[in-house]
Amino acid sequence: MRISDPQIVARLTKLAVELQPGISLADQTSLGIGGTADLLRIKKHESIPHLMKLLDSNHIPHKFLGGGSNLLVGDGELPWVMLQLVGPEPDVVLEGNLAHVDAAADLGRTVTFCAKNDLGGMEGLIGVPGTVGGALRMNAGAYGMQIGSYVREVKLYRAAERKIEFLRGHQISFEYRHTSFAPDDMMLSVTLELPSKPFKEILQGIRICNEKRRASQPLGQKSAGCIFKNPAGASAGRMIDELGLKGHAVGDAQVSDRHANFFVNAGKASAKDMLALIADVRGRVQKAFGVELENEVVVWNA
Ligand code: EPU
Repeated sequence: MRISDPQIVARLTKLAVELQPGISLADQTSLGIGGTADLLRIKKHESIPHLMKLLDSNHIPHKFLGGGSNLLVGDGELPWVMLQLVGPEPDVVLEGNLAHVDAAADLGRTVTFCAKNDLGGMEGLIGVPGTVGGALRMNAGAYGMQIGSYVREVKLYRAAERKIEFLRGHQISFEYRHTSFAPDDMMLSVTLELPSKPFKEILQGIRICNEKRRASQPLGQKSAGCIFKNPAGASAGRMIDELGLKGHAVGDAQVSDRHANFFVNAGKASAKDMLALIADVRGRVQKAFGVELENEVVVWNA
């Protein structure tokens, strides 16, 4: 979707929203797949309610783009504009055991910064790409921990109420790769309450998780992490592996030969290729195990 009306462009400038015309979503996503759209970079949280009013009254559909690491975007000209937060500097501020973090902050950098200040708990998340806002929305987790366990307060734009609100941690439900936020809510910032731990101890935990990840996941390749959620009590990766599907491909979309629940873009895969691979693998797992795998990857396809 493109914005060309000069009146809208002037309003965006007044709201401290930067318009980047016709960006490629392939450049914004870890899968390296996706068509083109205008990108609106938001520099002030307080502009958001006004921006949403402007977009709604001009019938401009939108999507919130975080770090693009768990996202499969369709090909060609996309029917939405992309909204993205620009974080302040610094984007993490510590206060005792509390870390106040902007949603646009890089997750890995946040975990490391907290660790250097003797705040632990999130060791498992090192190596998970993306923003803190994205991790929060999905309740990202690994190696027995999940970000939701540390949330004390969240600042968000609530699409239904059209306003910025604060929620306490206990008002939000954090489940396996799922939260009670509405799909249109936009994460703005979060306060995490982290346990004190000596840096050396945290570093040891980080090293162990890094090694496990390096040994089992295709880290150097373009992927969106795990494609499917694990069904209760089972591993999607193991099931796909047992069907001998490592390396199975549609065009350049390929089941990783390292971890079968990672699908990689081995060259110039299109969204069409990747979606066909996902459907094919889902069908085979359903047929062999009677289990309907649910996407973990978020799909934006018109
Ligand atoms: N396995 C296979 N073949 C494979 C992959 C896995 O046999 O190709 C087996 C492993 O040997 C192991 C079991 O399946 O016995 C589980 O594998 P793994 O430890 O890699 O964990 P997973 O359940 O596949 C989950 C998360 C990952 C997270 C790891 C580590 C999901 C869908 N996946 O993977 O998260 O990094 O545990 O905690 O919950 C993600 O969310 O994108 C993601 C990668």
